Amino acid sequence: MEISLLSRTALGCAALLAAIAPASAAEPGRLLASQCAQCHGTNGAGPGFEELAGKDLFNDLIEMKYRPIEGIMDRQARGYTDAQLRLIADYLSTLPGNGDD
Ligand code: HEC
Repeated sequence: MEISLLSRTALGCAALLAAIAPASAAEPGRLLASQCAQCHGTNGAGPGFEELAGKDLFNDLIEMKYRPIEGIMDRQARGYTDAQLRLIADYLSTLPGNGDD
């Protein structure tokens, strides 16, 4: 009786964790990417500069971070660790774009 209650509780916890994991994984990326909206539009979908939604921008962000400073985005990218840029890129890639580039 006690064991079955325990195992049911464990199963319930596992199901709950599985249900909330995708949402909580997106959360740090969403917070980190929120400042991109100032220039690239809400949720990175413009209007503004380049649309960010629905693309995997990790390699672009890394390139901007490590190249000699050429413009505003190099300075933006330098403000984050590589791991944070990965979170930002992963989050932005999940968003629907508006069809602009
Ligand atoms: C202060 C305004 C500003 C903010 C904030 C900003 N950007 Fe940009 N971004 C620009 C401008 C201006 C350009 C186009 C000129 C350039 O590439 O420097 C650009 C271009 C880009 C490009 C295309 C670069 C290329 O070489 O094609 C990407 C990708 C990008 N931004 C991603 C981001 C991400 C991700 C964030 C948030 C971490 C962000 N930007 C925040 C202004 C901004």
